[in-house]
Amino acid sequence: MLDVKALLEGAGDGDLDLWARTINPQFVRVLRTIGFDRPWARAEGAYLYDTGGNRYLDLLGGFGMYNVGRNNRAVRAALVDALELDTPGMLAMGVTALPGLLADALIARTPARIERCLFTSSGTEANEAALKLGRAATKRPRVISTDHGFHGLTLGSLSANGNPEFTARFQPLLPGFERIPFADLDALEEELRREDVAVFIVEPVQGKGINIPPDGYLEGAQALCRRYGTLFCLDEVMTGFGRTGKMLALEHWGLEPDMVTVAKSLSGGYVPVGALLMARSVHEAVFDSMPHAMSHGSTFAPNELAMVAGLAMLNELDERRLVERSAELGARLLERTRALVDEVDVVRDVRGIGLMWAIEFEGDGLAYRMLERAQRGLFAQLVVVPLFTDHRILTQVAGHDMAVVRILPPFVLADDDVDEFADALHATVKHARRMPRSLTKFALTAAGVR
Ligand SMILES: Cc1ncc(COP(=O)(O)O)c(C=O)c1O
Repeated sequence: MLDVKALLEGAGDGDLDLWARTINPQFVRVLRTIGFDRPWARAEGAYLYDTGGNRYLDLLGGFGMYNVGRNNRAVRAALVDALELDTPGMLAMGVTALPGLLADALIARTPARIERCLFTSSGTEANEAALKLGRAATKRPRVISTDHGFHGLTLGSLSANGNPEFTARFQPLLPGFERIPFADLDALEEELRREDVAVFIVEPVQGKGINIPPDGYLEGAQALCRRYGTLFCLDEVMTGFGRTGKMLALEHWGLEPDMVTVAKSLSGGYVPVGALLMARSVHEAVFDSMPHAMSHGSTFAPNELAMVAGLAMLNELDERRLVERSAELGARLLERTRALVDEVDVVRDVRGIGLMWAIEFEGDGLAYRMLERAQRGLFAQLVVVPLFTDHRILTQVAGHDMAVVRILPPFVLADDDVDEFADALHATVKHARRMPRSLTKFALTAAGVR
C-alpha cells in the first residue's frame, strides 16, 4: 500500500526542484524571484506551515476556495464517512442520491427562478456550460462580457475574458464574443438591442482588481437582458458561498439571473467541482427530448466525493454562521484599513465587500513613475513581497497591469488575524512608500528590467 507519509518525508524540501523539472519551471522562477519559494508542510484553517514549523497567515485562501478554512474537519469527516460507506460512485447509465441532494441544497439557496443544476468539475467548465447552453436555448450566436472580466482559461471562457494578458497569444478565440466596459449600461444596451446576444456574462464583483459595481448597474443589466431576450448569467465562482458577506453576491442587489455559475469553495477546497444553476426554461430548451438527454456533461462532474464535500461545506457555512462571519470580518477589515487612504499619499483606494478586499495604489513621485514605467502596477509587489517575507502573510497582486493588492481569506480568521494584517499592512505600505533602494532594485529585477 502507498505510504503517503513516507513518500512526503522522502521528498524532503525538494518540491520546487521537482515542479521546475516536471511541471512548470517558469512558475518556480516567479516564486523564487519574489521569495514565495517556501517548502510547505501542512495547513489548518487560515494558517499554512512551512517545513521549518513557521506559521503563515493565508489571506489568499487558494484564490478564494477555502471559505470554510483549509483542511476543514467537518468536510473531511463527511468525506471519510462517504469513503467508508463504499457508495456506488459514478454509474454512467444510472443515478445515485448524492448529486440530487446537493443540487437540491444549491437550488434552495438561489432565487426562485433557478430550478435546475448541472454539475461540472471546475469554474471554467461551469461557464463553458452557461455559454454553450445559452446559445442553444436562445438560438442566438453572440456573447457579451466585460473588460477585466475573468471566467476561466478554457477556450469558451477565455473568449469571454476581458484581460488581454490572458487572451492575446491564443487568438483566434471563438467568434461572436464581444467585451464592453464594466458598469456601462449604455454600452450593454448598444450590444443587446441587436437582439442576437445569447448571454451576458458578468461577475457581480470582479475578481481582477476587486471592482465593486455601482448601485443600479447589475439591476439595470438584468432589466436590459430581459428587455432584449438575452440570458443574464452571473459568474459567482469567486463571489459565491459567503465571499461577499451573503450566501450569493446576487442577494446584495436582489437579482434574479437566468444562470448562475459556482465552483471554487463549493467542495471546501477538497475535490474539484463546479455547477451551472439555471432557470428551468433554459434547461428545457436544450434538454428537450430523450435524444437530447445527454446534450452536455462530463465524466467526473457529479462525482460523489465532490457532492458529499459540497453538502458538508454548505452545512458548515450554516452551522457556524460563516456567511455572517464573513460580513463581520469584512467590516472589521475595512474599518482597520480604510484610514490608509488619508494617511499615505500613494494609497488611492481601500475597498471591500465581505471578505473580498483590495488596496489600490497611485503615485506621481519620480521613483513611483519609474517603477510604473518598468511595469504597470509594480508598486503593489513592494507591498505583497514584504508582507510575505517579513510578516508571513500571504496576499497577491490583484491582476496584471494594476497596482492593486487583494485578499480572499478563509472565513475562519480570528479578529486578531485581521488586526495583525492591518498592522502589518500599515507598516509595509509606509515603508514601501519611501521606496528604499533595495526594494526598488528588487522590484525592477522582478519585472525583468534588470
Ligand atoms: C470569477 C471566476 N470565474 C471562473 C473562474 C475559473 O474557475 P476555475 O479555475 O475553477 O476553472 C475563476 C477562477 O479564478 C473566477 O475567479
